[in-house]
Amino acid sequence: MKGIVLAGGTGSRLFPLTKITNKHLLPIYDRPMIYYPIQALVDADIRDILVVTGGRNSGDFLRLLANGKHFGLEHINYTYQEGEGGIADALALARHFADGQKICVVLGDNIIERNIRDAAERFRRQPEGAHILLKEVTDAERFGVAEVAGDRIVGIEEKPTVPKSNYAVTGFYMYDATVFEKIQTLVPSNRGELEITDVNNAYIREGTMTFSFLEGWWTDAGTFDSLLRAANLVAQSMGGKQPHEEGAPSHTGEAVRV
Ligand code: DAU
Repeated sequence: MKGIVLAGGTGSRLFPLTKITNKHLLPIYDRPMIYYPIQALVDADIRDILVVTGGRNSGDFLRLLANGKHFGLEHINYTYQEGEGGIADALALARHFADGQKICVVLGDNIIERNIRDAAERFRRQPEGAHILLKEVTDAERFGVAEVAGDRIVGIEEKPTVPKSNYAVTGFYMYDATVFEKIQTLVPSNRGELEITDVNNAYIREGTMTFSFLEGWWTDAGTFDSLLRAANLVAQSMGGKQPHEEGAPSHTGEAVRV
């Protein structure tokens, strides 16, 4: 399975922090935001990774990440999203890279405490379709919200005023190769974007969507409050150790490489 980190978009909710840099290059405690989703993929044994960047500062991703030595990788792939046509628009750029294989997509501003290794392993064995990770939250109206009936998802609503459940759809998505055909059928939403929620609903209609619950804490970091929350959660999970101290747990529970 290949990995894709989506780090395009304007980060307008973090203006003026994002006036002169890309949201995913901002710090979360002791490292840049983009490190966390990349580490989450590597921790799930996904080592063939594409980073979708955008905006005026895309060259900085290359300078920061280079070929992925920090993550024990020998190579990272990059591509560029023109404009900010939405998450599914950014994902469409990964078609050539995916080359017919299954993919694990991570939003560049999503940060987790544990890892997605078990879910990725299950999806490797799932013959077709998609798998998403849900998390129970108290502010579901900020997210895609899943309506669950027994062991299946009935539908997902993007940022509903009155959520049908407290189950947020996290920014970790696993898809088979048909995802790119599904994206081609999408039309822009009211906010003018190709929505990942519409992609997920296509899999739900097809009856091939599975789900599991994310363990440990999860947060996005795309607003001032969630950016602060993310930094505090990462700092607390360092367990009192100094950043980069040998053996200090990283955000994903792996030993920090120094
Ligand atoms: O964090 C989880 C939520 O992320 C989900 O629950 C929602 O269903 C999903 O739509 C998304 O909601 P947001 O409105 O918070 O997404 P946002 O616009 O902040 O974009 C999240 C990431 O996706 C961003 O950090 C980079 C990437 N992205 C986004 C856009 C709009 C792109 O690469 N290109 C884009 O054009």
